[in-house]
Amino acid sequence: MSKVASIEIEGKSFELPLVVGSENEIGIDIKKLRAETGAVTFDPGYKNTGACESAITFLNGEEGVLRYRGYTIEELAAKADFLEVTYLLIFGELPTQEQLQKFNEDILQHSQVDEGMKKIVNSFPKSTHPMGALASVTSALTAFHPETLNVETEDEMYDAIVKILAKFPTLAAWTLRRKNGEELTDRDPALGYVESLLKLMFGKTGESYEPDAIVTNALDKLLILHADHEQNCSTSTVRIVGSSQASLFSSVSAGISALWGPLHGGANQAVIEMLEQIKADGGDTTKYIDKAKDKKDPFRLMGFGHRVYKNFDPRARIIKKSADEVLDQLGVEDPVLEIAKGLEKTALEDQYFIDRKLYPNVDFYSGIIYKAMGIPTDMFTVMFAVGRLPGWIAQWREMRLKKEPIGRPRQIYVGENKREFKAIENR
Ligand code: CMC
Repeated sequence: MSKVASIEIEGKSFELPLVVGSENEIGIDIKKLRAETGAVTFDPGYKNTGACESAITFLNGEEGVLRYRGYTIEELAAKADFLEVTYLLIFGELPTQEQLQKFNEDILQHSQVDEGMKKIVNSFPKSTHPMGALASVTSALTAFHPETLNVETEDEMYDAIVKILAKFPTLAAWTLRRKNGEELTDRDPALGYVESLLKLMFGKTGESYEPDAIVTNALDKLLILHADHEQNCSTSTVRIVGSSQASLFSSVSAGISALWGPLHGGANQAVIEMLEQIKADGGDTTKYIDKAKDKKDPFRLMGFGHRVYKNFDPRARIIKKSADEVLDQLGVEDPVLEIAKGLEKTALEDQYFIDRKLYPNVDFYSGIIYKAMGIPTDMFTVMFAVGRLPGWIAQWREMRLKKEPIGRPRQIYVGENKREFKAIENR
């Protein structure tokens, strides 16, 4: 294959080098395009733009493939736990027993969250959306850890990484405790990373708490499935904010805000709200399929479609099976699961969805599992953020180690040309 691409602009031809990834994905290297031709590329939503070279996550949307550091999502969900996957994503290899133990101990050592942070969380109104609170307190954490602001060496990065991994589940759980008007508790060091998150969310002061093994396993798996997804909206946000050398905590805070939107992580909340609405409306799925197809109606089938997956979302397959198992094991009968299955079946047979390659995504079934675990709807996206944290960290670290330049896209200006200022009395 030729290693260059040629383009012609206004009769003049130019050659652009190609970059080829380890899975033979091809990119056209346009770094010198503007300098040599005066033109820039135009790609709203970055649908065809490779923003970086990355060795973390590979996905092939046509074939429904997702791998972290070369390992398939199916194998990791079945055989690894969330902390192992966290280590793998950030440092590139599965940890040995010793490495995992040290990682776990380093996280435990920093799990205490400062008392001043409790005051901040308690100052939020109980009605605050947990994602807004989480973004704010993650950024506020920099005030208590100024040593994490200007990291240069790998050791300094490691210190910032274990600190945020240690404190994030507590902060996430506190957004729920604040909402419920409960005392803000600290991590139980006797419990594992995921078990302790459950206790932080659901433990009652003065009462003992035994995390349910089924719930712990299901949550562990959900966190693994959400742990990274290459250059999605929140991850690109983390990388672009971090590229200005803003701190890890503030870059993650920006990622949380990006994740909150209903077209991204907020979809898991929107799916359950949609399913509940269909149930309350008599359970007629066809009516909602028709609404989703009607271009005059802003309604979209939440949990359907994906920017990259155009065949199936491998995470959705794993989750659908898991939803069945978890509800069965917990003895929960949720009519919303039946509505979801009916909706999926009707949509998959409908020409509109077939033509546009719209399939259920990871969040179509995740909300059903969260609901069965007793997690309130507006906490679903917070769970997604806990899962995505290792991915954000891994991508931030990769970007910093490669010393990537500051992210700063160009634009095509379509506004007014130069004009004279008009005094206010003449307008
Ligand atoms: N319901 C109805 N129509 C849809 C949907 C949907 N959920 N998704 C896409 N379409 C249609 C869209 O109207 C367009 O039709 P047309 O070509 O006739 O104008 C066509 O499909 C292509 O859509 P698009 O908006 O150009 O596709 P995109 O790649 O820009 O958007 C998406 C991807 C995920 C934002 C979109 O599919 C969507 O809004 N889905 C619902 C929200 C959702 O479930 N988001 C979670 C994504 S997975 C979790 C995560 O990683 O964040």
